[in-house]
Amino acid sequence: EMSDEERAFQDRIDEDIKIEPRDWMPEGYRKTLIRQIGQHAHSEIVGQLPEGNWITRAPTLERKMILLAKVQDEAGHGLYLYAAAETLGISRDDMTEQLLSGKMKYSSIFNYPTLTWADMGAVGWLVDGAAIMNQVPLQRTSYGPYSRAMIRICKEESFHQRQGYDIMMKMAQGSEAQKRMAQDALNRFWYPSLMMFGPSDAESVHSAQSMAWKIKMNTNDELRQKFVDQTVPQAEFLGLTVPDENLKWNEERGHYDYSQPDWDEFFNVLKGNGPCNAERLGARQKAWNEGQWVRDGLLAHARKNAARKVA
Ligand code: ACO
Repeated sequence: EMSDEERAFQDRIDEDIKIEPRDWMPEGYRKTLIRQIGQHAHSEIVGQLPEGNWITRAPTLERKMILLAKVQDEAGHGLYLYAAAETLGISRDDMTEQLLSGKMKYSSIFNYPTLTWADMGAVGWLVDGAAIMNQVPLQRTSYGPYSRAMIRICKEESFHQRQGYDIMMKMAQGSEAQKRMAQDALNRFWYPSLMMFGPSDAESVHSAQSMAWKIKMNTNDELRQKFVDQTVPQAEFLGLTVPDENLKWNEERGHYDYSQPDWDEFFNVLKGNGPCNAERLGARQKAWNEGQWVRDGLLAHARKNAARKVA
């Protein structure tokens, strides 16, 4: 049974009135948002690593500048999102510590390696493509600060997707070796990109409540299907083959039929056993440790300033 407060809260959600930090909210709503926004913020920050890997090896100065700008954007996205989560009463330090201890997750996709330059194309095209598919509807999410962060992030995210597709075009229209690299990148990133949308609706524990609260606007399978429908013609335009023998336009459904990713692999990556989990968390732990003196210095400075004001 809902209390009067909960009923009034749900009425506001149903009327599409945004919830703001000072408004009353059920504890479950607050916890779910901290989990989702925090996980999203961590994904932006950890997501810098697979691409940062290629900045020094980008094939031209122009490509280097573009990639550098994109990776910087991701740092900015992480910061907007941490700030949005902080309005719910958790500190960024707490979230970071929970990431490093394995209590909080980040997107499974960033536990796969980026082996060739074509992977920068595939990451932009597929990974950022999947991210936008998920984030465009989140611009209408019920929590005000999250919604506003999403509006800014989506603008930059579509530039990221286009730069990835542009790399794929160049590679797919290049030499035979370049075309092979592009196909290989698509082969390796296709199923991990499908996994980004989360488990099937039948296995998604949070979807029903999150949709009732309009924290999520669509189910995982809905967005995955939209992504497949949008991406298959883009692969055809590149002259590349999606690595799925069952992929077929279904006239009746008005959608592509496609194969599910290997869900055992997905849950195994979530448990920390993906190809790069240890490396990614190791890199974040190292950055955290090496930044300790900066945090200490800033704190000492803030304390000194505060003491001076009192005196
Ligand atoms: N990677 C890691 N964990 C995942 C993933 C994934 N791709 N998909 C689902 N999970 C986790 C969920 O966090 C949840 O675990 P938890 O209870 O320990 O937190 C569990 O699997 C069950 O999944 P769901 O019940 O479906 O979880 P939820 O309703 O949160 O849906 C989703 C998952 C779709 C990812 C949702 O959280 C979301 O839309 N998040 C915002 C977008 C986002 O985080 N994007 C990050 C990648 S894009 C980028 O950074 C460029």
